[in-house]
Amino acid sequence: MTKAEAQKRHTALAAQIRDHDRAYYVEARPTISDPEYDRLYRELLDLEAQFSELCAADSPSQRVGGQPLSAFASVRHAAPMLSLDNTYSEGEVREFVARVQKLLPAESLEWTVEPKLDGLAVTLRYEKGVLAVGATRGDGAMGDDITANLKTIRSLPLRLSGNAPSVLEVRGEVYFPKAEFEKLNAERAAAGEETFVNPRNTAAGSMKLLDSKLVAQRHLDIVLYGLGEVVGAVVPETQSAMLDWLRGLGFKTPEKVWSCANEEALLAAIHELDSLRKSFAYETDGAVIKLNAMALRERCGATAKAPRWAMAYKYAAEQAQTRLRAITIQVGRTGALTPVAELEPVFVAGSTVSRATLHNEEELHRKDIRVGDTVIIEKAGEVIPAVVRVVLELRPAGAQEFVFPKTCPECGSKVDKSLRTGEEAAGVVVRCANPDCPAQVRGRLEHWCSRGAMDIEGGGEVLVAQLVKSGLVLDVAEFYQLKLAELAALERMGEKSAQNFLDGVATSKQRDLWRLLHGLGIPEVGVGGAKALARCFASLEELMDAQASRLTAIRDIGEVTAAGIVNWFGDSDNRRLVERLGKAGLNFRSELFNPEAALGRFAGKTFVLTGTLPTLTREQAAAKIEALGGRVAGSVSKKTDYVVAGADAGSKLDKARTLGVAVIDEAQLEHLCQG
Ligand code: IVH
Repeated sequence: MTKAEAQKRHTALAAQIRDHDRAYYVEARPTISDPEYDRLYRELLDLEAQFSELCAADSPSQRVGGQPLSAFASVRHAAPMLSLDNTYSEGEVREFVARVQKLLPAESLEWTVEPKLDGLAVTLRYEKGVLAVGATRGDGAMGDDITANLKTIRSLPLRLSGNAPSVLEVRGEVYFPKAEFEKLNAERAAAGEETFVNPRNTAAGSMKLLDSKLVAQRHLDIVLYGLGEVVGAVVPETQSAMLDWLRGLGFKTPEKVWSCANEEALLAAIHELDSLRKSFAYETDGAVIKLNAMALRERCGATAKAPRWAMAYKYAAEQAQTRLRAITIQVGRTGALTPVAELEPVFVAGSTVSRATLHNEEELHRKDIRVGDTVIIEKAGEVIPAVVRVVLELRPAGAQEFVFPKTCPECGSKVDKSLRTGEEAAGVVVRCANPDCPAQVRGRLEHWCSRGAMDIEGGGEVLVAQLVKSGLVLDVAEFYQLKLAELAALERMGEKSAQNFLDGVATSKQRDLWRLLHGLGIPEVGVGGAKALARCFASLEELMDAQASRLTAIRDIGEVTAAGIVNWFGDSDNRRLVERLGKAGLNFRSELFNPEAALGRFAGKTFVLTGTLPTLTREQAAAKIEALGGRVAGSVSKKTDYVVAGADAGSKLDKARTLGVAVIDEAQLEHLCQG
């Protein structure tokens, strides 16, 4: 075959494959049998093997993934990627409509309502009809170049159909189809691997894999709903027409879009969407309301973070009914015995739930939960699922009350009902009295590696269990003695992942003091307490010998916490542990240390952060506030001085509004910082 003949045949094959892909992945109406498709595809690959120049960026062969990347490049978005204002209340939807009407008094407004996909926001840039770059939203101005990963999505055209503009930026959401997610988790469970929490995180996690070959195995999908920069085409006049245009170019668009001429129709559409969305292939967490006419949108404009012409209405937490198969007992790092509901798996609010916490013995009795009961569970987004109540009418005859164990189910030691200091308010905590209980040992090690502590990747449940079982690591200091060979010899642990873990362990030696303090698991010392201590002590040595009175002088450290700290450092085993960590080369100095902290501009002020800020990460914003002596709290109360709200702010923002707490954005925070 001559080169010219090969070229001709390749073009024809590529076009055929593109058409079949579109029919199958975008329109869900296959036009060819699998073996026939495979034959075309193989012929295409053979041609490319013979004539490598045929293998262009938009060839169907380019979906499978090439060489792994070592990092993602940053890309600046030609037009910023904004977020949306959120609400859970119909009243606020009405207020939004009124607000827009006030901006456009002479116009009769038409709205569209679309599903709000719960996935990962991305932008795709096509140049001369060929996919050039695909990127994450990032901070809205710059994102990560994830082109190779996006190309693996079969419904995403690598080349546009029809009349393509010279530049087209389209925006949409990458998602993990619900059915694929269930399948993947079932496979992982069968292989004894950890299952993924929900489709959204899995989609986001998959798009951040550096090896696109792995991404290709995940069967992600994408829906497009908006535009960025467009050159060389007249942009359609309305959202509805724009979506038609996108479909014509070969994109998948939202499952159903409503056009509404007034507020009543709009609310009806929101309700109808709520009743339909369960049947969609993707997770949805709300409805997006948009002004239909593009020209009117321009007249409304945008704030720094969100357009004034659109709004997201979020649906409330989802409940589901399922059966309680068993009640098991989990032993945590402090020895606390927590009853856990083992449920008939049920899909609710974005993930399959098969376990829910029952908190403690008291709670279990208060709700009168019995094995065999039908229960209502509730889950909102990332929140841990909870059992709300029992459906008593469905209780099977003879259902027995649960009898709380008298010994630790992990190690058989006797349990202790006596309270540790500070726990009076939390109710009865039954605790395993054996500090060497394997469950406690595992809990302490996992906590050390966790994100809020030393942040050592790979140090999760599975590896820690192996390390404890093999006796390689029994306390946190032993992480720093681990040898590559012994680690690599563990089951399902290759040399590469062993090395990665050891690298993470080595990096953790340099972590700031507050992380180490939190990681030690000193009673009552969470992230907030650890940071407060690290602000007031230059080093661990100094803190170790501090008197309770010096500790209670610190804001945020009460008597109970102070006593917990003094006791902990008074224990000779604990002191030896700290000494061994020092010998292993861990950093004991505090970068947060700031003798002026108490006198800083924000001294005595409490801030709460919520949502995604346009440029600062949560950690960066907290660091700014803390550097000036302010405190960052996790929840809003009357004592909160400021709520710093970013995109997608949720219930904390609502609470701030209800309580009349000042709400500021990132720019205003910067302003305050500068005094
Ligand atoms: S339009 C400038 N439409 O929700 C307007 N966004 O909470 C940009 N999202 O960042 C967004 N489904 O990632 C739009 N049908 C939809 C959407 C949608 C999901 C995401 C998007 C956005 C986030 C805001």
